[in-house]
Amino acid sequence: MNKTAKIIIEDKEYQLPIIEGSQGEKALDIKKLRDDSGYITYDIGYKNTGSTSSNITFIDGEEGILHYRGYAIEELAEKAEFLEVAYLLIYGKLPNQSEYSDWKNKLTRHSLVHEDVKKVFDAYPTGAHPMGQLMTMMSMMSSFYPNAQDPHNTQEDRDLTIVRMMAKMPNLCAMMAKKRNGHPVLYPNNSFDYIENYLYMTFGNPCEPYQIDPVVKSAMNKLLILHADHEQNCSASTVRMVGSAHTNLWATIASGIAALWGPLHGGANQEVLEMLQEIKDSGFTSKQYVEKVKNKEAGVRLMGFGHRVYKNFDPRAKIIKKACDDILNKLGVKDPLLEIAKELEEMALSDSYFVERKLYPNVDFYSGIIYRALGYPTDMFTVLFALGRLPGWIAQWKEMLEDKQPISRPRQIYTGEQPRAFVDIKNR
Ligand code: ACO
Repeated sequence: MNKTAKIIIEDKEYQLPIIEGSQGEKALDIKKLRDDSGYITYDIGYKNTGSTSSNITFIDGEEGILHYRGYAIEELAEKAEFLEVAYLLIYGKLPNQSEYSDWKNKLTRHSLVHEDVKKVFDAYPTGAHPMGQLMTMMSMMSSFYPNAQDPHNTQEDRDLTIVRMMAKMPNLCAMMAKKRNGHPVLYPNNSFDYIENYLYMTFGNPCEPYQIDPVVKSAMNKLLILHADHEQNCSASTVRMVGSAHTNLWATIASGIAALWGPLHGGANQEVLEMLQEIKDSGFTSKQYVEKVKNKEAGVRLMGFGHRVYKNFDPRAKIIKKACDDILNKLGVKDPLLEIAKELEEMALSDSYFVERKLYPNVDFYSGIIYRALGYPTDMFTVLFALGRLPGWIAQWKEMLEDKQPISRPRQIYTGEQPRAFVDIKNR
């Protein structure tokens, strides 16, 4: 039997249908509330608003659970390859052997980026933030593939756009790394797989053969999987919102990159490293820094702490913390920033300010330390997040389109001036 909830507004009763998810999540369907009662619901920042139903990712923030299409993140991070996970997110199932080799083969064959793209790179000022560059490159790609303008093209066209985007993304990310160093761009090498190629294009040079370090490759694989999707976060919601206007996929993903860039979202991984470095350079003790955070000094937050959904622990942070120790040990890296991070975490976890507000380390707290150990400059960290998140964004966009969801268009409560007459400039 369909469940309903009753709501009484100004002595009048309204019935609201109850929706239940496959993991027992419950929601009130308020779609018709305004038509029936004249009321809208009010929830700044969508703190308690379900913007969609989705089959892709499940999070239980209280229990610290994260599943992609029903598979636990812990198991995927341990056993899967990033491209398997990308396929799983986008197409809804783990690929069998022939599907997987076809997928990898297509991603290899479409990895070249049009030579004219380099001209745009050349126009960028040296030192421009890589996320700004990535956003531009992504939206610019729509000009190279005019048949991708219409997202309602055939399934075949849509799949080709997805393959092109996934295939070219590592190349675009690596081109930015090369430009910032003033080194020549390296073309993808088809004897390498997806992650190997990204490492080669980023760290290799034309003067000598590039040796893949299995520790680095495996670390990258894990990190990309951990970042691959996270249901209706700020960037995924942006992607769904922009895509709901039937904007093409390239421009839509560019909007996701813009959202991710922000320091409260994916940009936090860069901020964490900068915060740890600041603590080290300034000579503050961790305790002094935590005091600044608790005193809410202007602009001071414990970056990499807190999450809108996780109120117990972020399962990705747990995996990353362990991986961080393993990887630094295997690479023989001793990083003083790791010690500061651990000290901050220990202090925060036993401090009532953080405990009462349920603030725990999130995915960004330790990831930057691994990226640093792998040799990435700090301003590339959020680009690495985007590289991992791309299949999640694509999956969210595809689902939104295939479910024929309407254009996203929230309402508001107007709090401005009453209607008034225009005043001529002479009389103001
Ligand atoms: N350091 C100190 N205080 C914090 C922090 C933090 N990192 N995060 C939240 N708080 C405090 C707030 O000041 C607020 O306190 P108050 O009740 O006294 O006013 C309370 O905790 C609630 O915080 P909100 O900002 O309302 O929580 P919200 O859910 O809106 O924000 C967010 C979540 C943006 C992640 C926040 O915790 C934050 O800014 N964290 C730091 C940035 C960060 O690490 N972002 C990455 C998130 S993961 C991701 O997007 C990939």
